[in-house]
Amino acid sequence: MSAAAATSPCRICGGSVREFLDLGRQPLSDTFVDPEDTSGGFVYELRVGRCGDCTMVQLVEEVPREMMFTADYPFFTASSTRMVEHFTRTAQWLLDEHCCSEDPFVIEIGANDGTMLATIAGRGVRHLGVDPAGLPGEDATERGVVMLHDFFETRTAELIRTEHGLADVIFAANTLCHIPALDDVFAGIDAVLAPHGVVVFEDPSLSDVLRLTSFDQIYDEHFYVFSATSVARAARGWGLELVDVAALPVHGGELRYTLARSGTREATPAVAAVLEDEAALGVDDPATFDLFAERVRRHRDELVGELTRLREDGVRVAGYAATAKSATVLNYGGIGPELLPAIHDTTPQKQHRLAPGSRIPVLPFPDEADEPDVYLLLAWNHSEEIMAKERAFADRGGRWLVYVPEVRLI
Ligand code: TMP
Ligand code: ZN
Repeated sequence: MSAAAATSPCRICGGSVREFLDLGRQPLSDTFVDPEDTSGGFVYELRVGRCGDCTMVQLVEEVPREMMFTADYPFFTASSTRMVEHFTRTAQWLLDEHCCSEDPFVIEIGANDGTMLATIAGRGVRHLGVDPAGLPGEDATERGVVMLHDFFETRTAELIRTEHGLADVIFAANTLCHIPALDDVFAGIDAVLAPHGVVVFEDPSLSDVLRLTSFDQIYDEHFYVFSATSVARAARGWGLELVDVAALPVHGGELRYTLARSGTREATPAVAAVLEDEAALGVDDPATFDLFAERVRRHRDELVGELTRLREDGVRVAGYAATAKSATVLNYGGIGPELLPAIHDTTPQKQHRLAPGSRIPVLPFPDEADEPDVYLLLAWNHSEEIMAKERAFADRGGRWLVYVPEVRLI
């Protein structure tokens, strides 16, 4: 990064965001293309910066939300059994810890296919899932979850308050980091959160991104990379306080934040511990991010080098799972069908389409006879589940190419 790095205003505090990483021109990460469609589609500049005032890591260019969370949004939480288990446990925890009033009411922002709320609904607890995405929302309704097909913001929050009253819990998983206009979301939260209520949200954590060099956590939908440091500061501006934080082993490392209205709850010791841990990692130091960007460029070059060698050796390689994050690594690396002829994925809505930007065909998983020699693990965030499921592939001599935390052929 040159000394005269570009700056832009912070979406949280208005401070100055200094760009530290340019991941190039990128497509919408969840737009799987019809093979007949050669229009090229929407592209934007995936550049990442950090606010020198509030420390929030954020994208420099914003993609309009209507372009991302469309009626045919193809992401379904239930496509991962481990995530289903995780959200069943999460729901249980919310019920035990935070649904202690006489007639509790739980709102989930970005309820997707209703995986989490299904457990809440099953207990007969009042709830509402809010999500503009059409296809996953249909599955939520089938699971018995009450849904509002819309964006959560001040306008919808006021409607919810009139219709359902105040919420004991407002939950969001892998959603708040998607929303540039958090000020409007938190104004909505202020309108509908009960005085004793809590806001609980989980998102990829900056310390894990830095530790693992997991730069593919950054894509159009992941506008922010939160840390306890940045969330604690932002919360104050929203009249809230960070009162608990917990590390989660899902999606490549996340934090679960609990916010409450200022002065209503004592912070747990975990808050100070995580803040200290982040300080030790250098989240307050711009140099940390320049070093991160250097590692990102090196990992990209090593991955492209490895794929090129494998092709030269006649080794058959295919991608494992057409994750949203794979758009970042494939397009940043300029990896197309010549280096990676196919990506296999279980999601019917992605199959027989082309991965965005890279135009790599997405196909169902092949029979044993048609298996590649090497799978590039694009869903490294689900690696435990996948390794367990694919033991037979490894037993047959199949190998895995990974790029997080290092480029390695296993
Ligand atoms: P995500 O990383 O954005 O959560 O996307 C997960 C994608 O990976 C989704 O398209 C489904 C796919 N997938 C598989 O194809 N097989 C698997 O075993 C798992 C866990 C996910
Ligand atoms: Zn800021």
